[in-house]
Amino acid sequence: MKVLVVGGGGREHALAWKISQSPRVKKVYCAPGNAGTRSLAENVDIKADDIQALKKFAAQEKIDLTVAGPEAPLTEGIVDEFEQIGLKCFGPYKIAAELEGSKVFAKQFMDRHKIPTGQYRIVDTTQAAQQILLSGVFSFPVVIKADGLAAGKGVILCRSLRAAEEAVDSMIVEKKFGDAGKVVVIEEFLRGREVSFIVVSDGVKASPFVTTMDHKPVFDGDKGPNTGGMGAISPSPFVKQDQFNHIMKTIVLPTITRMLEEERKYKGVLYVGLMLTEQGPRVLEYNCRFGDPETQPQMLRLESDLMDILEAAMDGNVLEAKPVWNRKASGCVVLASGGYPTKYEKGKVIEGLDKLEKRADVVVFHAGTREEAGKVLTAGGRVLNVCASRETLEDTMKAIYGAIDELEFEGMYFRKDIGKERKAAL
Ligand code: AMP
Ligand code: GLY
Repeated sequence: MKVLVVGGGGREHALAWKISQSPRVKKVYCAPGNAGTRSLAENVDIKADDIQALKKFAAQEKIDLTVAGPEAPLTEGIVDEFEQIGLKCFGPYKIAAELEGSKVFAKQFMDRHKIPTGQYRIVDTTQAAQQILLSGVFSFPVVIKADGLAAGKGVILCRSLRAAEEAVDSMIVEKKFGDAGKVVVIEEFLRGREVSFIVVSDGVKASPFVTTMDHKPVFDGDKGPNTGGMGAISPSPFVKQDQFNHIMKTIVLPTITRMLEEERKYKGVLYVGLMLTEQGPRVLEYNCRFGDPETQPQMLRLESDLMDILEAAMDGNVLEAKPVWNRKASGCVVLASGGYPTKYEKGKVIEGLDKLEKRADVVVFHAGTREEAGKVLTAGGRVLNVCASRETLEDTMKAIYGAIDELEFEGMYFRKDIGKERKAAL
């Protein structure tokens, strides 16, 4: 088989790494990939959201399966486009990916079906927002969310009325997020532990992945602005078996069943971002794709062939794949460019990668990297993902931080407390 992985982050490197281990897979392509994916795949110079170019390439190369990593091509309908010409693409159809593409749709969907989530109101004018904020329905902090995709930046946690008004203004008046911020969700701030609950669905049933959680704020102690994720671990110490069963029963399976009933059959990865509150788990968001960086530690724990799961889901019998996961504790620490998630420089030479390539006990998945004249350079905010798995989380994190000592680039920044106890976000 020939497989095309769409995207160029750490998640896509981890997916390509795992897919390339499948005995059924003869060749892996990554579009656009990064300096790391080059060692196991052929990089193709097509952007992840250029659906027409991807479609043309997949048709020309007779790709058997395309796996789209990021949300943009999925919410833009890559799966529908590929199917129109008989190409297989793993993921939800556009109409189902709206669970991630529109926060308004997701909130109203949960409301209709009593899926536990925070209280919310939807507004499209600053006057309406002000009225709600002044009415006392919500206490502070409050969360202001742009309806559409905003590259992870459209969620603003606001401690005061003034901050909330500014956030609404930035979306509706200043149009900081373009059309994505035309409609805004005002949401109750939820306290608790955040976990990422990830399953693969065939539209009817769901095969859960091992539990995981990421660390979103940029600084140690969960301080500073949210990022795409500065690290992740699997399992999550906060999801025990009874909690796991409860989440499947009250959140994951109702979501899939109700989507089917609403004629939005949900096939692909369903990533439910959850807050484990004192009142029980509450949905923060749905994502229609694998997590980044959660996929990295999850792939280290998957003993089976990932292709078995993806193909079973495509064929409508996801439960037949029966994946085996090891019981180790795995982790991932993101090395970022100084300044991320706001302004940062690119093009810095990365030193030390060769030393880690020789080691079998740590895996480095690349994210924002590119190769030039035999050197690997930084090319994005999140640059590398240093991963390991051991019997205990403590040993895992020790191995990862030890390996990070070998790596260097100008401005390199990473959190020193991944895998340690976390507090609520504010
Ligand atoms: P979202 O894209 O909606 O998941 O928001 C991104 C991040 O913002 C989440 O992963 C949480 O860390 C945080 N967040 C979102 N909604 C809430 C909420 N209602 N209460 C507390 N934190 C939230
Ligand atoms: N790590 C957060 C995400 O993948 O959305």
